[in-house]
Amino acid sequence: MSFRIPSVSACSKLLLAFSIGLSLVSAHPMAQAEDDAARGCKHPRIRKEWRQMSQRERADYHAALNCLHSIPGLYQDKVPGLSSYEDYVYLHKSHTPYVHLVGHFLPWHRYFLWTFETQLRDECGYKGAQPYWDYTLDEAVNLHSSPIFSPTAGFGGDGDYVANQTTPPDLPRGTGGGCIHDGPYANWTIHISRNTTLFREDRCLQRSINPDVAAYWTTPQRQADILAQPDYGWMSKVLEGGPSWETLGIHGAGHFIVGGTDGEVFTSNAEPLFYLHHANLDRIWWKWQQDEPSVRYSDISGPIRPWSNVLGPVYEGLPYGNVTLDFEMYLERVAGTIKVRDVMNTMAGMLCYEYTD
Ligand SMILES: *[C@@H]1O[C@H](CO)[C@@H](O)[C@H](O)[C@H]1NC(C)=O
Ligand SMILES: *[C@@H]1O[C@H](CO)[C@@H](O)[C@H](O)[C@H]1NC(C)=O
Ligand SMILES: *[C@@H]1O[C@H](CO)[C@@H](O)[C@H](O)[C@H]1NC(C)=O
Ligand SMILES: *[C@@H]1O[C@H](CO)[C@@H](O)[C@H](O)[C@H]1NC(C)=O
Repeated sequence: MSFRIPSVSACSKLLLAFSIGLSLVSAHPMAQAEDDAARGCKHPRIRKEWRQMSQRERADYHAALNCLHSIPGLYQDKVPGLSSYEDYVYLHKSHTPYVHLVGHFLPWHRYFLWTFETQLRDECGYKGAQPYWDYTLDEAVNLHSSPIFSPTAGFGGDGDYVANQTTPPDLPRGTGGGCIHDGPYANWTIHISRNTTLFREDRCLQRSINPDVAAYWTTPQRQADILAQPDYGWMSKVLEGGPSWETLGIHGAGHFIVGGTDGEVFTSNAEPLFYLHHANLDRIWWKWQQDEPSVRYSDISGPIRPWSNVLGPVYEGLPYGNVTLDFEMYLERVAGTIKVRDVMNTMAGMLCYEYTD
């Protein structure tokens, strides 16, 4: 609880101000982060690939997510019934147009995941770290039998087949489309609406596993292409790709190989696999940084306004220009204002974690 901001109403009015570099009233940084910084990061959280975790560790992670989804959230005045887990869906939904297709795409999601992982530990007694899913280890033709989709060792399988499922128009369809019925999230009810209007919409988690997207996009070669980029600007853009099928990038692909809820642009993180996918994107950035730390812990660039405006709003309130190390990011009621420079190194400052590989 300690990292939450007390002055809720003042903060919520600044909803759209978070990404435009305003100097907001300083919020309390996360207590855990302060502790880690004071310790100099001697005990980093070790983020493992799902396959590297024991069955016990996996069960602990599932238990923590189910715990978070059972705690009443901070945004029930916005949507009655939202859980703490769904606070993050609300945040992602309201920030989506401002944190994708921009220079701070990776830093914002790094901060988002760290905050989520910290809350699992502080409020749900989770002792582990955020797992990641390296989908380049899965053969596209065998995607359905990936341990990730196992009902006992993973997150459960595909949704019911729905003939008229809606997919982005230029994407090959997946194999499901309806509700999932097995695994630890089979009976989850999501309360937040999936489109850009905010209202209560009780619904199940849906999936539509998509081997075609996996065959084209989540391959070892695609990851190698990202890691081979010479600077942050290119690395980030190749990773995030574009809004169309041809230029989806590994980011879009990681959402659409699961499909269903995970393919909802604004509310994709209602699907727990969102967090394993985004941990993997964060890991790719981390790996890229490891190749030349002296330069890459401070290399940041890319536009403040999205390079494609497919996500909707008019961006008149935002400055033109490029993201710098001093660019500010904000998580409303859940966590305070930080700068991009605060999340450049996962083993320094407020952060304290690394990946197994
Ligand atoms: C798909 O089909 C179902 C069942 O016939 C119907 O209820 C639903 O409205 C359809 N959805 C779309 C997007 O056409
Ligand atoms: C989901 O609900 C069904 C029907 O009530 C039940 O049989 C099943 O065990 C539940 N699954 C989980 C993972 O809780
Ligand atoms: C979202 O869905 C609701 C209910 O179907 C509808 O009333 C609203 O107009 C939709 N909003 C948008 C932006 O499509
Ligand atoms: C942002 O960076 C790009 C690429 O380096 C550069 O061409 C552009 O002039 C920059 N824009 C501003 C407003 O500084």
